[in-house]
Amino acid sequence: MAPGPRGSGALFLDLHMNLPPSAVLGARHARVRQVLDALGLDALIVTNASNIRYLTSHTGTSGVAVLTREAVHLVVDFRYEEAVRGLQSSDAACPGLRTWPVPGSYEGAVLTCLSEIAVSAVGFEAAHVSVARHAWWRDTIAARALGISLRSTGSIVERLRVIKDTWELVALRESASRLTAVAGTVLGAIRLGTTEREVAGVLEGAIRQAGYERLAFDTIVASGPHSALPHYRTGDRRFASGDFVVLDFGGILDGYCSDLTRTVCIGPPSGEARRVYSAVQDAQRAAIAAVRPGIDASAVDAAARCVLDARGLGEAFGHGTGHGLGLDVHEDPRITRHRPGIAPGETIPSLLLEAGMVFTIEPGAYLAGWGGVRIEDDVLVTEEGYEVLTSVPRELLSL
Ligand code: GLY
Ligand code: MN
Ligand code: MN
Repeated sequence: MAPGPRGSGALFLDLHMNLPPSAVLGARHARVRQVLDALGLDALIVTNASNIRYLTSHTGTSGVAVLTREAVHLVVDFRYEEAVRGLQSSDAACPGLRTWPVPGSYEGAVLTCLSEIAVSAVGFEAAHVSVARHAWWRDTIAARALGISLRSTGSIVERLRVIKDTWELVALRESASRLTAVAGTVLGAIRLGTTEREVAGVLEGAIRQAGYERLAFDTIVASGPHSALPHYRTGDRRFASGDFVVLDFGGILDGYCSDLTRTVCIGPPSGEARRVYSAVQDAQRAAIAAVRPGIDASAVDAAARCVLDARGLGEAFGHGTGHGLGLDVHEDPRITRHRPGIAPGETIPSLLLEAGMVFTIEPGAYLAGWGGVRIEDDVLVTEEGYEVLTSVPRELLSL
């Protein structure tokens, strides 16, 4: 189901934010429950904020969800109780939601919930529970003889989030399309003598003006030698003639991230600058053209890497070709030679692309002390191949 008109939320909520309707949340719960059944779990404690948002639409910075076969228990403290009540009286209500207060600690409130609903085999998200929190739960369950068996789980919700539902695709398309418009507004602000921070300010103002709830990450404006640092922290350098300027920015709309990079040149580019730029442009074109269902993510990475290798720039491309986009700006699938958790030398398990995945394609070439180029777009895998969600010219601009 697609989002309704903007502002269809209840009075208590941000009227400018679209929320997934109840039926969409219910379908997500059903998919998690299938996994719980397969694992023999009665419940899953969800502590990752994006996973909680995915399952309940709760956007607070604190909260714990416990999904069972019958219900979604949301443990939230006083600061969020009113917002959750508002959510429940809207057409975006979370099906089967029951809220639990936090009279003391979150750890204690979760145990109260688990013991009152009488579940025994309970999964937790191993990547999102601190050692201290786990130890407290384990020791308290034993001391109080609660009869709960805590089981470590990995990426149950994250794996479902990799394939976007129709509602998410509407949000991601809109997020990417507004970023395209933001890119158009910034070019006039880039000229000889402007500072990186001034341009970042213009970009961030345009992102706010465009209606995003916030930035997806700290805006990167990297000029001259700084452009050779892929995740440079924007500073006060003034643009000089011949500089490359890498502009990497993104926003979060209705919870969904967009992420775009363009590299421009201050004044006419040198021959070497044109050569490096066109290598990155060709690498990005090759990687995008490789995207289709059934291809391994590492083959998309290889398509970009192969072009840069052939131009003598393989060593200058030290990061992966892309990353999944959704509620998080960096999520699965990773479009890379490596996989998190796989040691060097181990065989990389295949990761076949499927329709509904959304990720960036962002090859770059970085030459220390000289400069760098990165070109990044957001891409959806479709049944037929791909759709590029961002739409900004990729030719080298001389400003
Ligand atoms: N700006 C972070 C990234 O492109 O991944
Ligand atoms: Mn980026
Ligand atoms: Mn990116």
